Amino acid sequence: MFFYSSFLAACNKSDATGTTSVTPPKAGFTLDLTAPQNAALLNVGGYVNHGNINVVHTSGGFVAFSALCTHDACVVGYNSTVYQFQCPCDGGIFDISGNVVSGPATVALPSYTVTQSGNNLTVN
Ligand code: FES
Repeated sequence: MFFYSSFLAACNKSDATGTTSVTPPKAGFTLDLTAPQNAALLNVGGYVNHGNINVVHTSGGFVAFSALCTHDACVVGYNSTVYQFQCPCDGGIFDISGNVVSGPATVALPSYTVTQSGNNLTVN
């Protein structure tokens, strides 16, 4: 019994599959590419975290994914050198399509639709 309760205490971050239920952030916002806080998006490889949604300028256009790691909701950053989202907490890695490259996360990052109109990016 002692072992069992110790095990549960050690694993309170996630279930046995290594995944918790992480609620994706809500989208529905517009980013102005001329605004200083969005300047990183002017260059391929740049990204901005807005409301825990990472918007990335890729060579194929703009994409957006939840910045909340599906393992335990740590905020992932984008590494443009290797085209990956990387979690600072437990080392989870996701590719530029949001798919899991390595765990402990087992669920892909939820994606959003990005529409560009002039200098505005709308994320839904
Ligand atoms: S929170 Fe554990 S890998 Fe991201």
